[in-house]
Amino acid sequence: MDRIILIGMMGAGKTTIGRELAKRCGMRFVDCDHEIEARTGVSVPTIFEIEGEEGFRRRETQVIDELTCTPGLVIATGGGAVLSPLNRTMLAERGVVIYLNVPPQVLWERTRHDRNRPLLRVPNPRERIFALHRERDPLYREIADIIVDGGRGNPGGTIRQIRKALE
Ligand code: S3P
Repeated sequence: MDRIILIGMMGAGKTTIGRELAKRCGMRFVDCDHEIEARTGVSVPTIFEIEGEEGFRRRETQVIDELTCTPGLVIATGGGAVLSPLNRTMLAERGVVIYLNVPPQVLWERTRHDRNRPLLRVPNPRERIFALHRERDPLYREIADIIVDGGRGNPGGTIRQIRKALE
């Protein structure tokens, strides 16, 4: 297996699960947002401020294209990575795609005190989470090879589910 790709909403646990999964599978972990931050030298919210969401999405596509051509990686994508059809094609064709499925109420509880997510800087962030989940859930499902329940607050159990499905 060349690449394992984690998709799902903000707060789904892609980074936490991905890091641990990589360790157990003897693979290297990369997070697309961290990669973008390392390359630009600024945070994701700052990129949104300077270049808008459009500028961020361009950088995201570039990073996805490069990382999905690198062997031996567990890749955590940003929650919006599936919005672009081109990204969806690259992700679906270049790795085993795992959707960490988490109910919107749980996503909200996990992200409500987080100031690092520009899309949640709106008057009603809870409503935003629910709307984004409604819009994106079908896109995650469209490209997922494996769907796991990431909503139980039990990363060890989620990792076991993933490893079993990968056998
Ligand atoms: C986004 C999710 C974030 C980050 C950016 C946009 C989204 O990543 O890429 O703030 O559109 O859902 P996480 O899913 O890692 O929070």
